[in-house]
Amino acid sequence: DEREDETSVHDDLVVISNRQPYRHRYDDDGDVVTDRPVGGLTAGLDPVVQRVDGTWVAWGDGDADAETVDENDCVRVPPDDPAYTLRRVWLDEEAVEGYYYGFSNRVLWPLSHGLVGTMEYRDEHWQQYREVNETFAEAVAERAGERSLVWFQDYHFALAPRHVRERVDGPTLMQFWHIPWPDWDTFRTCPAREAILHGLLANDLLSFHIPRYCENFLDCVAGCFEDATVDEQTGEIHRDGETTRVRAFPMGVDVDRIEREAAACTEAEWAEFTAAIGVDPEATLSVGVDRLDYTKGIPERLAALERFFEEHPEWRGELTHVQKLSESRSRIPAYGDVADRVAEAIERVNGRFGTDDWQPVVRLDSHLSAHQLYGLYRNADIALVSPVRDGMNLVAKEYVAAQTADPGVLLLGELAGAQKELGEFALPVEPYDTAGFADRIGEALTMSERERRERMANLRAAVAANDIEHWMDDIFGEAREVRRTRGR
Ligand code: G6P
Repeated sequence: DEREDETSVHDDLVVISNRQPYRHRYDDDGDVVTDRPVGGLTAGLDPVVQRVDGTWVAWGDGDADAETVDENDCVRVPPDDPAYTLRRVWLDEEAVEGYYYGFSNRVLWPLSHGLVGTMEYRDEHWQQYREVNETFAEAVAERAGERSLVWFQDYHFALAPRHVRERVDGPTLMQFWHIPWPDWDTFRTCPAREAILHGLLANDLLSFHIPRYCENFLDCVAGCFEDATVDEQTGEIHRDGETTRVRAFPMGVDVDRIEREAAACTEAEWAEFTAAIGVDPEATLSVGVDRLDYTKGIPERLAALERFFEEHPEWRGELTHVQKLSESRSRIPAYGDVADRVAEAIERVNGRFGTDDWQPVVRLDSHLSAHQLYGLYRNADIALVSPVRDGMNLVAKEYVAAQTADPGVLLLGELAGAQKELGEFALPVEPYDTAGFADRIGEALTMSERERRERMANLRAAVAANDIEHWMDDIFGEAREVRRTRGR
């Protein structure tokens, strides 16, 4: 019976992620307040864990987190209607520096994005990464049993599955790697390559966004381990009596919610917002929304805009690019560098073309409400999504999901994972080809209404066909399948 099966795979669900779904902090009056998930993975997974009353293990990084947990470091969430257990893991400054700012974000992040020159490997960071992975595995082992489905998220936990396997008998282990996986010649530059692969192969199911990352992963295992049997056809790896299934599941967004929020942004709210950021609500609008990260291609995008205004004086005073940026990992020098380059580029473009009553680029650093963000997406005539490399890029999908009014045009980087699903109907851009990128902006702005409608209708169908719920159903379905074949 399908329904019984479905519950049985959710039975004892344990989710592990670096970021927590609910965070407690003190407000200015010293009262404890809860930050809730607004987007991304934690927001998408939260309802699933609520439905099955599982456990979520995550780094407790809120200043009031410790006050809200019980003697087992657990708190029931959501606070107003408790539905599952959040198990917090405490990390001291040295651990955060080595595990998060160190190995995760100075080695695995650039390496996975193919940016070997940006990688900074240090033994002491690797040591902390190993210890933190063990700490998380211990927390999982407290909660997991034979029937559990344990689901690790992302590159912060390459080693934890192996530790859980050693500590607990019988659980089904799976992991989703949310960023790209590089080819073997890139991956082999990492001194910790063997341990990373050995850790990940403890999973029964390992998933990525697109088939190419799966293929790269299989190549890396074949290149690294002579004793591994890699079946390219089935995507299965056999080594040391274990089997790991490698599969692609392109992540989606919460289409219903985004459509709702976009539609809920009223004319008055939009007018107030555009006035506050100094944008003419009638002008042609371009939008970019990114974490301030060197993989997002932001300086390259600004160079293309500069080139566009140079070649198309008729668009000066007419087109405004609104660039939302969220500060990220700024303690790492490579992030400081890209922040400087972005600031310089914006100053340059605005200095060259800006007038008393018009700025070509409007930079937004502060938090946007859901209405503002999705209203911005809805009203933007074009979206510039041009990462130099990106596992998926959900901004592209969010923009499409919010296009409930007059359809805009999505310009999408060739190296975003989303290209696989959306590439046929978006306008492709190459982030480093400044002249070509500028031409594409011109093409998007002058596209016929008929073509815009047709492209957007196709994009919307593609995004709706694979929303966040489909993504999860597919993954849990595969987990069920794995369980069945292993006789669990
Ligand atoms: C990427 C990663 C996520 C991460 C997010 C934000 O999307 O795949 O795991 O949470 O970036 O980065 P941060 O370092 O702030 O968690």
